[in-house]
Amino acid sequence: MDPKGRIAIVTGASSGIGASTAVALARAGSRVVVAARRADKLEATVAMCRAEGAEAVAIRTDVRIREDCVALVRQTNDRFGPPEILVNNAGFAIFDTIADARPDDIRSMMDTNYLGAVNCTQAALPGMIARGCGAIVNVASIVGIMGFAGMGAYCATKFALVGFSEALRSEVIARGIRVSLVCPGTTDTEFFDTAMREKSPAAERLILAVPPERVARAVMRAVRGGKARIIVPWPAGLYMRFKELAPGTAHFLMRKVSEMIERRGR
Ligand SMILES: NC(=O)c1ccc[n+]([C@@H]2O[C@H](COP(=O)([O-])OP(=O)(O)OC[C@H]3O[C@@H](n4cnc5c(N)ncnc54)[C@H](OP(=O)(O)O)[C@@H]3O)[C@@H](O)[C@H]2O)c1
Repeated sequence: MDPKGRIAIVTGASSGIGASTAVALARAGSRVVVAARRADKLEATVAMCRAEGAEAVAIRTDVRIREDCVALVRQTNDRFGPPEILVNNAGFAIFDTIADARPDDIRSMMDTNYLGAVNCTQAALPGMIARGCGAIVNVASIVGIMGFAGMGAYCATKFALVGFSEALRSEVIARGIRVSLVCPGTTDTEFFDTAMREKSPAAERLILAVPPERVARAVMRAVRGGKARIIVPWPAGLYMRFKELAPGTAHFLMRKVSEMIERRGR
């Protein structure tokens, strides 16, 4: 889909990958609706989008709340028209081992990262189906393809999102709607302020961090080309392919490298 002139919603657009994606869509000529909880940060994203010459508006949304997501689509419709592009990006992590993870954290991550995307998708999908066109991009993670030690509960939310996206893609592709996954590796955003606390799992340091703008470019490629899955950066993509071919060996090697990094860090 050519994003020029299209109406786009980006969730989690108050910082990081979502803010960069909103700006990229604005630059490409979309009318952009940015959604998240922090109003001041959303307004900063709106200002960046307008600086690109685009129409943009902020709608405060908590994606965990279904009614918020319904209102997001309704208000988008009232302001610009029916959304044609939906980027489900809102998400967060709290890294813990399974033994230590708190039930509230596990539930909250699932509510946001998985059910938040379900809520927004179900709110926007009927309109897309009725018009026979749409692009949905779900920002998952490489940890939605391969489970990493020390972040199991977060991995599970992204595995759920990957399964949801693949199934939805098959359900709606013949109706003119493309559903894509963008799976980033470590990306340099505020994400780690929450995720790490005082912890430092070795696996997440294995792949060099990329800037959020690079992930935003992958989202734009997904919107334009409708590809099923894009992994960034490409070395992570190669490793994920290897993992799918030889999961036992890939996990074994990752454990060895993690142990080596842990030893050096001590
Ligand atoms: N950074 C990485 O290494 C990395 C790697 C792979 C995948 N990802 C994924 O990429 C996505 C974006 O993360 P990021 O790295 O850009 O981190 P970030 O800068 O912390 O951005 C996360 C965004 O999600 C929003 N959000 C969180 N909870 C929300 C809720 N309940 N309702 C609405 N919005 C909510 C936040 O906004 P408010 O707090 O204002 O609501 C913020 O805009 C996430 O899904 C993350 O899992 C990140």
